[in-house]
Amino acid sequence: SIFDLNISNSSLKKFLLHFFGERFMKIHHVGYLVNNIDDAVADFQKLGYVVSSSLIFDEKRKIFIQFLEFNPTNTIKNEIVSGGTRIELITPAQGCELFSKRLKSLGSIPYHICYECQDFKEKILELQAEGFLLIREPQVAPAIENRQVAFMYSNSIGLIELLEIK
Ligand code: NI
Repeated sequence: SIFDLNISNSSLKKFLLHFFGERFMKIHHVGYLVNNIDDAVADFQKLGYVVSSSLIFDEKRKIFIQFLEFNPTNTIKNEIVSGGTRIELITPAQGCELFSKRLKSLGSIPYHICYECQDFKEKILELQAEGFLLIREPQVAPAIENRQVAFMYSNSIGLIELLEIK
């Protein structure tokens, strides 16, 4: 499968997928809500993760975002090329009531898994037909190359995030 090739160039990946007619759905990251990004980074480093992005401020959502990656095996031009698990740390900035409240009641927790999908729009419709709720219209994620993301919810498994391939 094309998925086993671990191609990081997204347009090449999209071309190959289109060419071979494969459908693509793959875990992109696990999202953690944390009280303090620096403290969370320090503890993830103890587990073998390394920082793989700058600290990003998402102005629309009023949150700070930091990506980490597990056990990189190689680096080329400072780009981590390992296919390891990616973690997204999120902490609320001033004015982000929802996440502040959630942190107060639950503490730092993993709260969503993000799936990268080839047929982003079709996948949303498909999951809606299967009973998932689209809780927010798709929007651009500045922390992920301005790709479209959508959050969906199921009573049984909670929140999931879908990410388009650009
Ligand atoms: Ni996410």
